[in-house]
Amino acid sequence: MTPLGRKIALRIARTGPITLADYMAECLLDPHHGYYTTRDPLGRGGDFVTAPEISQMFGELLGLWLAQCWLDQGAPAPFALAELGPGRGTLMADVLRATRGVPGLHQAMRICLMEASPTLRTAQGAALAGYEPQWYDSVATLPELPLFLLANEFLDALPIRQFHRHATGWQEVMVTEEGGKLAFALSPPVPVSLLADRITDTRPGDIVELCPGLRTVVGEVGARLARHGGTALFVDYGGWHSRGDTLQAVRNHRFTNPLSEPGLADLTAHVDFEAVARAAPPARATGMVEQGVFLERLGLRARARQLAQRMSGDTLLSHEAATERLTAANAMGTVFKALALYPQSAPLPPGFTA
Ligand SMILES: C[S@@+](CC[C@H](N)C(=O)[O-])C[C@H]1O[C@@H](n2cnc3c(N)ncnc32)[C@H](O)[C@@H]1O
Repeated sequence: MTPLGRKIALRIARTGPITLADYMAECLLDPHHGYYTTRDPLGRGGDFVTAPEISQMFGELLGLWLAQCWLDQGAPAPFALAELGPGRGTLMADVLRATRGVPGLHQAMRICLMEASPTLRTAQGAALAGYEPQWYDSVATLPELPLFLLANEFLDALPIRQFHRHATGWQEVMVTEEGGKLAFALSPPVPVSLLADRITDTRPGDIVELCPGLRTVVGEVGARLARHGGTALFVDYGGWHSRGDTLQAVRNHRFTNPLSEPGLADLTAHVDFEAVARAAPPARATGMVEQGVFLERLGLRARARQLAQRMSGDTLLSHEAATERLTAANAMGTVFKALALYPQSAPLPPGFTA
C-alpha cells in the first residue's frame, strides 16, 4: 500500500468503512500525500492533458466569449474574473492575452483563482506574473462583485457518492479494508431523499452518483450571478441525467484501479450536467452543448486557419492534431460538454441555446 493507503486503512480500522466521497477527498487533497496537493499532474510529463494544455485556442476563445458576456451585461467595473481549479494557469494566461484589446476589461478585472493545491498555486503565480491574481479557498469567499467565471475540468475532480439500486431503495458504495488491501463494499440499505426521483428511471442493479460538492459550488455561483450579475462557464466530461459507475483513476496517461494507488493516481467522475442546471437557481442555466460544437460556434476553425498561416512542418502538424483533438467526435469533441449560468435579466450567452 502507498503511505496514504496505510493512513486510510488506519482510519477505517478505527471508525469503520468510509464513503467514496471521503476516500476521493483523502486521495486528492490530503495535505501530505494528496494527489493534487503534492504535484503538478498536467501535461505530457504528467498523468493527463487538458484542453488548455493542448492548444492556446481553447483559452483564447473562452476569453473572448467571456469578454462578450461582460460587454453584453454593460461592462460592469470592477468585476471578478474568476477561475475554479486553474491547473498551471495556462487557461487564464490565454484568456488574458486574448482580451488585452477589449477596452476597459483589464482595468476593471480582479483576477480570482480558487485552487486547493499549494503546488499548483505556485505554478499559477508564475504563469500569471505581472497580473497580481488573488487566491481563494471557496466560492463563498470570492469578492462580492459581478462574477465572470471559467471552470474547465474542475467539477470532475469533486468527490462523488455512489449508490447501488436494490429492489426498493439504495445501498451506498463504501471503501473498506480486507486482507491488507482496500476494497469496495456496500452499506446496509439507506434512505436517500436526494435520489427519490431516480427510483422511477432506474432498475435494481443500476448505479447512480451524487456529487455533494458540485451542489455547493454551483449553488453559490448561481446565487452570486443573481446578486451581482455575470456569467459562469463549466466545461467537463459528462452527460445529462447520468447513470452508471463513472469513477476513474488515471496515472501516467493510463487507467488504473481506483483503490490500488491512493494519492498517486488522479481520481475523477463524469459530471452530471443536469445536476449543474438544477443547482443554478436563482440564476439560469443554458442547455448543454458538446465541446466540439461550442468551440466551432466560437470560431475555432477561423482561429486555427489564422494560426496555421504562420506555421510549417512539425509545428503545423501538431497544431492540426490539436484542433482535431479538441473537436473530433472520437477525441474530446463529444465526450466533453459545456454549460453556462447567467442571471435571469441577462441575454443568453453566445454559443448556447436556452
Ligand atoms: C483536472 S485539473 C484541471 C486544471 C485546469 N482547469 C485545466 O484545464 O488545465 C483540476 C484542478 O482543480 C483543482 N482542484 C481540485 N479539487 C479542488 C477543490 N476542491 N478546490 C479547489 N481546487 C481544486 C486542482 O488542484 C487542479 O488545479
